[in-house]
Amino acid sequence: MQIYKVGGAVRDRLLGKPVTDIDWVVVGATTEEMLAKGFRPVGADFPVFLHPKSGEEYALARTERKNGRGYGGFIFHASPDVTLEEDLIRRDLTINAMAEDDQQNLTDPYHGQRDLEARLLRHVSPAFAEDPLRVLRVARFAARYAELGFTVAPETLELMRQLTESGELEALTPERSWKEIARALMEDQPQVFIKVLRECGALKVLMPEVDALFGVPQPEAHHPEIDTGVHTLSVLEQAALHKQPLTVRWACLLHDLGKGLTPEEEWPRHIAHEHKGLKLIKAVNERFKAPKDCQELALLVGEYHTHSHRALELKPSTLLELLQNFDVYRRPQRFEEFIAACEMDARGRKGLEQRSYPQADYLRGAATAARSVAVQPLLEKGFKGPELGEAIKGERLKALKGYKEAASA
Ligand code: CTP
Repeated sequence: MQIYKVGGAVRDRLLGKPVTDIDWVVVGATTEEMLAKGFRPVGADFPVFLHPKSGEEYALARTERKNGRGYGGFIFHASPDVTLEEDLIRRDLTINAMAEDDQQNLTDPYHGQRDLEARLLRHVSPAFAEDPLRVLRVARFAARYAELGFTVAPETLELMRQLTESGELEALTPERSWKEIARALMEDQPQVFIKVLRECGALKVLMPEVDALFGVPQPEAHHPEIDTGVHTLSVLEQAALHKQPLTVRWACLLHDLGKGLTPEEEWPRHIAHEHKGLKLIKAVNERFKAPKDCQELALLVGEYHTHSHRALELKPSTLLELLQNFDVYRRPQRFEEFIAACEMDARGRKGLEQRSYPQADYLRGAATAARSVAVQPLLEKGFKGPELGEAIKGERLKALKGYKEAASA
């Protein structure tokens, strides 16, 4: 049997990037031989094994043919007579379809190295169409390697468009899609992921609520970039520049969905878009079964981002309501993430990227003031149950009044 390093490990070594996990392909072996060598099988149907010591993935060279919609509909053919070239041709991109032996001799039948040099994400063969998830993968690689100057080859973009138009994306499971989305959002240029999906029509299928933001104007005085879709991309870009976590990036992507619902006669104003957008945010959250913390933050940022921008003008009672809704007493980190998302929103505007956001510290200070109210003295005064709750709120309101006065003095 011959063993080769394949996929991302070869690509990233040639790019001079750190290699984290290594995939191997085994040519000329049977399942029985692998088991005899102590490899552990991964799944019942997949000819993939884990190395007994390193735990790395070793797959028997295989050909694949699709016989149905979605990911389940595959027939694998793995046998010792499948060649390395046959295994590589079913892969997604030429830069992912290179193999290397233990002497670092490269097998590159589909010119991955040439495309690495040309900075092109190009599909290997028509077999690309066999897994619709690849539309998202290509957009994710575009986001990751944008800083190196990579773009999607026009013929690959066209194939992605055809795949999208054929309805194949609808067969993707929420779990597979979310995994790609989450990884793409954590790349350095997540806005490129959204841009590429939009260019091939996939954004309209996956997140029509985000797609609808393009072409929707906002008032130029607050938003020099005008277009709501362009603004959303800039907010995402800022979130990546400021190394925000996934929760914040997800909230950034969805914060303005309500603006897509504004009737054209009301443009460029978007009255109550915060509230109107909530049902759209919920729908996107549920479509991809996003993790609970992402779902929660996206809804809160959607509903309250304007509160944050207007923080310094808010009445103490409105401030208190905001802090109560966020449960800043028990969920301090979630409030920090809310502030971060709002700051990214403020910075994601053309020409205003460097502007300071004093609202952030003001809100932090307000949370500290509200938290400083001690419960013990109220208990000692005999307050209990709902009355105690009201008394605590009253004290917090007083603390916020004092805070606001001190801040504006
Ligand atoms: N692959 C593919 N189609 C997919 C998934 C994977 O063709 N839908 C192939 C590619 O050759 C890829 C390899 O399997 O390089 C390994 O896949 P994976 O580990 O998911 O990706 P990597 O290319 O290693 O990239 P990453 O750095 O994102 O893990």
